[in-house]
Amino acid sequence: MNLRYLALGVTIVLAACRIEKPGDVDGQALPAASAATRLPEYLGLGTPATAAILARVDIDVNPAGAGLPAGDGDAARGATTYAAKCASCHGPRGEGQGPYPRLIGAEPRAGFPFGTDASIPKTIGNYWPYATTLYDYVHRAMPFTAPGSLTPGEVYSLVAFLLAENQVIPATAVMNASTLPKVQMPARAHFVLDNRKGGQPFR
Ligand code: HEC
Repeated sequence: MNLRYLALGVTIVLAACRIEKPGDVDGQALPAASAATRLPEYLGLGTPATAAILARVDIDVNPAGAGLPAGDGDAARGATTYAAKCASCHGPRGEGQGPYPRLIGAEPRAGFPFGTDASIPKTIGNYWPYATTLYDYVHRAMPFTAPGSLTPGEVYSLVAFLLAENQVIPATAVMNASTLPKVQMPARAHFVLDNRKGGQPFR
C-alpha cells in the first residue's frame, strides 16, 4: 500500500473529527451562546413552509400583469412619494446622478440605437417593454435601502408618476391591476420572444 495515501487519509479523518461538536469551528471551541445561534430558528430548517411564509416571498408580477395586487395610484400621489423616497438617489426630476440610473427621459424616440451606441441611457420611456414589470421591480427592489417597504398604493402611484413623466400615460390616469397591463410601452415592439429550440441559447 502507498503510505503517502494512507497518511493523507488519516489526516482527513482526524480533521473531520475535530469539528464534530456543534460549538466547534475548525477545532476552536466557541462560547456557548455562539454555539446556540449557529442554526438560527428563523430558518425553520426541516419544517414545511406555511402558506403565510410562501405569500411573503411570492411577490412576482409577470409581464401580463398576473400577481398585481388590489389597490390603485396616480401620478399626483406618486410625485409626493418620489420626492420623499426616490429623488435623493435618482435626482429631483428622475434625471439620474452618479451611479443611480435615469428614470425619466424618452429620447431617442425613434430608431432604437442602443445596440450600436451603449452610451445612450436606457430608461422606462425609451427601453422598458412592459409597464407591469415596473411595478414588480419597484416593489421588489426600491427604495434601494428599504426594498419591499412600499404599500401597493405607493407602488401604483410611483409607477403612474414615472409613466406620466415619461409621457407614456396621461398625468391623471389611475393605475391598478386592470389598467396597468393595458399600458403600451413605446419600446414594446422592439422586443420579441426567443422561441428558438435547441442549439446555442444565445447568439
Ligand atoms: C439609495 C439610492 C436609491 C433610492 C433611494 C432609490 N433607488 Fe432606484 N435605483 C438605485 C440603484 C443603485 C439602481 C440600479 C440597481 C441595479 O442596476 O441593480 C436603481 C434602479 C432603479 C430602477 C431601474 C432603472 C432601470 O431602468 O434599470 C427603477 C425603476 C428605480 N430604481 C426606481 C426607484 C423608485 C421608484 C424609488 C423610490 C421608491 C427608488 N428607485 C429609490 C438606487 C436608489
